[in-house]
Amino acid sequence: MPRDGSATFRELRLPFVEINKAYPENYSFRCVEVGVFKGLNAKKFLDEMNIEHAWLVDCWGHFENEPQTVSNHNIDKDPDFWKRTYEEVQALFQTYSNVTIVKAWSEEAVDIVPNDLDFVYLDADHTYDASLKDIELWFPKIKTGGWLMGDDYMWEGTHRAVNEFVEKHNYILHSGSKNTQWWFIKNYNPGEK
Ligand SMILES: C[S@@+](CC[C@H](N)C(=O)[O-])C[C@H]1O[C@@H](n2cnc3c(N)ncnc32)[C@H](O)[C@@H]1O
Repeated sequence: MPRDGSATFRELRLPFVEINKAYPENYSFRCVEVGVFKGLNAKKFLDEMNIEHAWLVDCWGHFENEPQTVSNHNIDKDPDFWKRTYEEVQALFQTYSNVTIVKAWSEEAVDIVPNDLDFVYLDADHTYDASLKDIELWFPKIKTGGWLMGDDYMWEGTHRAVNEFVEKHNYILHSGSKNTQWWFIKNYNPGEK
């Protein structure tokens, strides 16, 4: 991954650029993306970073609470859409031996994916309840010093959930200038898993 990159790249890829800069150059990341859709973001970080292993988690099926993104296009009403999308993602990563595709709900996937992850990128259901649940589910999967990060910080639900969690646990929140990307580092915190 370029260490500085273009302006567009910096805006959209900020947490990935920042974590890449923060770790030693040859470090190999174990990571998860929750909410993969067509795999565009996953393909970018897989191609641009040194990834030991990535678990790509998505239900690839109808879900209720995402009116502003996927459902906006009415694609979730087409019964074949999610089947085709899942197949496209399988084809996209067919040659990647460092990828495990996990077709499951986020809450099921936490029990499938191993612990001690370097980062988890959350980009699934952006309602408040789902955002908070995802943060609480995936945070314990990250090793101390690892990063929890995500998309769509400008959405009210995600914004509130991220802020609440960070304030409660006394972490330092980072966000991009466009307010889409957010991330914080899981520091050593006695008493916390
Ligand atoms: C905004 S899209 C992800 C886009 C992707 N991160 C990218 O940038 O290319 C959201 C995805 O989250 C998935 N999703 C929503 N709620 C989920 C849940 N509870 N568990 C698993 N996947 C979920 C949807 O199926 C959809 O594909």
